[in-house]
Amino acid sequence: MTRRSDFRELPARLLAWFDRHARVLPWRAPIGVARDPYRVWLAEIMLQQTTVPHAAPYFQAFTQRWPRVEDLAAAPEEDVMRAWAGLGYYARARNLLKCAREVAARGGFPETSAGLRELPGIGPYTAGAIAAIAFGERSAAVDGNVDRVFARLMALKGEWAEEKKRLAAEVARLVPDERPGDFAEALMDLGATICTPAAPNCMICPLTDMCAARAEGAPERYPVKPPKVAKPVRYGHAWVYRRRGKVWLVRRPPEGLLGGMLALPSAVWQEGEAPEAVPPSKADWQALGEVRHVFTHFTLRLSVWQAETPRNPAGEGMWADPEEETGLPTVFAKALALATGGKVRRR
Ligand code: ADE
Repeated sequence: MTRRSDFRELPARLLAWFDRHARVLPWRAPIGVARDPYRVWLAEIMLQQTTVPHAAPYFQAFTQRWPRVEDLAAAPEEDVMRAWAGLGYYARARNLLKCAREVAARGGFPETSAGLRELPGIGPYTAGAIAAIAFGERSAAVDGNVDRVFARLMALKGEWAEEKKRLAAEVARLVPDERPGDFAEALMDLGATICTPAAPNCMICPLTDMCAARAEGAPERYPVKPPKVAKPVRYGHAWVYRRRGKVWLVRRPPEGLLGGMLALPSAVWQEGEAPEAVPPSKADWQALGEVRHVFTHFTLRLSVWQAETPRNPAGEGMWADPEEETGLPTVFAKALALATGGKVRRR
């Protein structure tokens, strides 16, 4: 039986570790230097469903192009959606712009997590993170990494939904009055660099002597979560019209999956079995193969076809240079890469 630590020393220990080992990331400032709320907010929105290495170049591109929230607020939605392409979850990009416009109109970000939560696209986690990091509010930011760290520290074995509440309460209790933002980011860094999912690096962990899972001998067994339900598979077809080296792109309807994003023509995706391959118009269609892409609620298997065409396909669209176009969501960039033999073009 492992005795649970009371974690009294945890905040100081963690902050001392952070002082030496904090990751240098584009949205951070040197320790002790005030952070720009706009940059903190932008980073937290980008990082909601995206890894740090994937988000970093997007963060750089956004802040170079739109250095202040007022600049982003003034941007056309189409430009923001195009710049967001590849980050996924496109409703976030639309909310990002809505939020920037509200913040610009009210003359700045609200400085409390309660105030931040009123803004589009900001849930409890993000509000807590921004309030702590940008404004020094004593609020907690518990994401999947922090869940894992505390599931191990506390060796939580019970029903995961309940255990998550317990650990969140524990984290909230531990947030220090001084440096709450550094505390939040220190936990994120610990989860990302030491207390990793498969092979935690307990030998160099500053909290190793407080960790109940470590004392048991197999910290990687935590968190104990219910098994994942397999995602359903949907099937569809995508059509690559080509003319003089260009490809025909359309814009998806504003609502729904990938709403408002550039796309290849592609009819409804259905579950169960592949729909019949009915091209939008007659041409000499050649099958190129299939791409797979994992969305939140399903996996897509998309058959890709191409044909040369002398005319504009029916309906609205535009000819784009596949080498230059960065505005496609990843699934369509993958499909296009099949047609051009290229890599998925990304920042
Ligand atoms: N993940 C979410 N927010 C983060 C941050 N501020 N630093 C590092 N990783 C993060």
